[in-house]
Amino acid sequence: MLTEKEIHDVPETQLDMSRLPQHIAIIMDGNGRWAQARGMERAAGHVEGVTTVRRITEECSRLGIGYLTLYAFSTENWNRPQAEVDALMHLIATAIERETPDLIKNNVRLRVIGDRSRMPADTLARLERCVRDTSGGSGLTLVLAISYSSRWEITDAARRIAAEAAAGRLDPASITDDTVARNLATAFMPDPDLLIRTGGDMRVSNFLLWQIAYSEIYITDIYWPDFNAYDLRRAISDYQSRQRRFGLTGEQVQ
Ligand code: FPP
Repeated sequence: MLTEKEIHDVPETQLDMSRLPQHIAIIMDGNGRWAQARGMERAAGHVEGVTTVRRITEECSRLGIGYLTLYAFSTENWNRPQAEVDALMHLIATAIERETPDLIKNNVRLRVIGDRSRMPADTLARLERCVRDTSGGSGLTLVLAISYSSRWEITDAARRIAAEAAAGRLDPASITDDTVARNLATAFMPDPDLLIRTGGDMRVSNFLLWQIAYSEIYITDIYWPDFNAYDLRRAISDYQSRQRRFGLTGEQVQ
């Protein structure tokens, strides 16, 4: 573990650039508490959270990370007060539209995972325009999980696999974990190597449950609006200090 002094001082040279996580997934939590601690409306925390999205996307892009998946809006978030839901949808759509030219300039490709059928038409249209306009990006892939939950995703995959079997195109005996993975919304990318959660809660909140089977988990008390490039590098440094065993013994891995 790093000392407090080192927390805000992880020079790049301390990172092993040949062993960076290929895919980082983040549960961006603590926007509401960040705002409330300052006597502000929760929405102000989400607005500040967008600045962090930009900062962390830039840092991942600069470091050469392949995939960054951000949990922007869960299936359960639809049950928040309508005003907050509307504000979040609007914020995501306008931020993405505003950032599209910079995403293109930085070679970032946007992808969206989640239940599109529940998204407001306007939000969906703006997201899909950005996905289309950035599709040529060959650098970082930024994946926004919006109206997403793992149980939705796995249920949806099960439904499609069952339909294939019922139609006689798939033998149930031939179904493997690869069949399931290929039917998930995340089929186009590798599983996360590193899962970060800000805001201090020790849970995974219905996020990428299948995909994080062997991810390294890093939880920080820092609220998402305060999370910065140093904090990200600290998380990566911590990740690099761990031995990933994938169910094997330490000796086998060595
Ligand atoms: C959790 O904080 C955060 C969210 C539900 C929304 C996160 C969304 C953003 C930061 C905007 C994303 C924008 C783009 C462009 C991707 P919380 O409200 O649950 O915080 P709390 O736990 O302190 O209440």
